[in-house]
Amino acid sequence: VQVRIATWQEAAHAIATMQVRGAPLIGAVAAYGVALAATADPADAAIQSATQHLCATRPTAVNLQWAVARVLAVIQPLSSEQRAAAAWSEARRIVAEDVAATRAIGEHGLATLRADRGPQAPLRILTHCNAGRLATCGVGTALAPVYAAQRAGQPVHVWVSETRPRNQGLLTCWELADAGVDHTLIADNAPGLLLMRHRVDAVIVGADRIAANGDTANKIGTYLKALAARAHGVPFFVAAPLSTIDFNCPAGAQIPIEERERSEFGATTDFVESVANPAFDVTPAHLITGIISERGVLAPTQIEAWRS
Ligand code: MRU
Repeated sequence: VQVRIATWQEAAHAIATMQVRGAPLIGAVAAYGVALAATADPADAAIQSATQHLCATRPTAVNLQWAVARVLAVIQPLSSEQRAAAAWSEARRIVAEDVAATRAIGEHGLATLRADRGPQAPLRILTHCNAGRLATCGVGTALAPVYAAQRAGQPVHVWVSETRPRNQGLLTCWELADAGVDHTLIADNAPGLLLMRHRVDAVIVGADRIAANGDTANKIGTYLKALAARAHGVPFFVAAPLSTIDFNCPAGAQIPIEERERSEFGATTDFVESVANPAFDVTPAHLITGIISERGVLAPTQIEAWRS
């Protein structure tokens, strides 16, 4: 399905309704939203109103606020006539940087897996949600090492958890099938058994916001996988570009968690009186083996080194 976005309001709608989703992609679309706003009306008040609306669409993925702030910082000092062109250029730069970042994440991630398993061993990866091509401007974050392994000729198989209630795991299956990567769809509750039975070499997930202390928000269900991985001695990696690290957020407890509508559970749940639908959870830094970014791989407690 292709959706044409011609106004900042349509960009906001696409993000809020998840026509586009995944932290880096949300950020890129929001950046173009600011460019559309500056094209429609470059006056301060109009841009401020547009950016406030864009930033309010989804609260957890920090890439959104990051991208909007970045475009704003470029255009605010400029005259009205210069703003639109500068905003479009900055949005394009954000996309290009994300493409490069995802490729680097793939290489660093693969090198780390190989350090552990060797260059020939089959890799059995568990992932959650979709952190691939459909969630970024490039090859993805959690899936980037998978694609890198495939490019390098290393056998790789991916366990893909369904990711209720929105089933983003199906997006991952679609992507992997399209790329010819071996994979198996599993229910969200299956990873405990697979980890216990030594059928997973590493867990790799994406992130929506990484706090300064390494605590990481990602799709609901991630935390349980991290707990099970730790219980069975399996490494648990978070793959994300630096744009997902929020150095202004000291710890996971301060990360806002998006609560989505009950309609995401489907009509079969209409008879249920009370439904809660938190879209993300927070995995504490101590359960994370390493964070893979475009700069390399660090323990979550060391990411301060990436601040500058
Ligand atoms: O609600 P979504 O589908 O936007 O959630 C996406 C995730 O949780 C991803 O794992 C995360 O954004 C990383 S995408 C590279």
